Amino acid sequence: MELKPIGLIHSPFKNQAGTPIQPRFAEESVRGHVEIFEPYVEALDDLEGFERIWLLFHLDRARPWKPKVIPYRDTVERGLFSTRAPARPNPLGLSVVRLLSRQGSRLIVGGLDILDGTQLFDIKPYSPKFDAFPESQAGWLDRGQVTDQADKRFDED
Ligand SMILES: C[S@@+](CC[C@H](N)C(=O)[O-])C[C@H]1O[C@@H](n2cnc3c(N)ncnc32)[C@H](O)[C@@H]1O
Repeated sequence: MELKPIGLIHSPFKNQAGTPIQPRFAEESVRGHVEIFEPYVEALDDLEGFERIWLLFHLDRARPWKPKVIPYRDTVERGLFSTRAPARPNPLGLSVVRLLSRQGSRLIVGGLDILDGTQLFDIKPYSPKFDAFPESQAGWLDRGQVTDQADKRFDED
């Protein structure tokens, strides 16, 4: 399968260290934008009214993956697939960000945990009816430590 980028994500974050580890921990005042490439612009129609959108993107600047990692919110090794670590066999990131406005081919977004210049593969609307299960158990993350920002542990060499 070949994934074609549909756009580019522009954010204030140039390096992993200091970038929020999830949109939940990002200052919503920190804004960025998503520039959608021409063949896909019409597909943005009707996103108005959605407060949040899912972005599926290329974690292009992560180090090679390993099956065990020490994730940001823990101090012991965990199986990679029980974490959101950015170094993955298929380096795909999934973030739910706030959609502030659409300006033609550009989406203005807030609450980013994504580096500047990241390729975007897909957008889906966030629906609390489909996507929110607030009472769900979350394994080791329920006991996770308080870290809101990334460091260099998953940075490319
Ligand atoms: C823990 S990951 C979570 C990403 C996404 N919310 C997810 O759950 O798939 C977030 C971190 O990925 C890193 N990151 C963001 N964009 C990246 C990129 N293009 N390449 C490599 N790392 C990136 C940043 O350090 C950020 O703090």
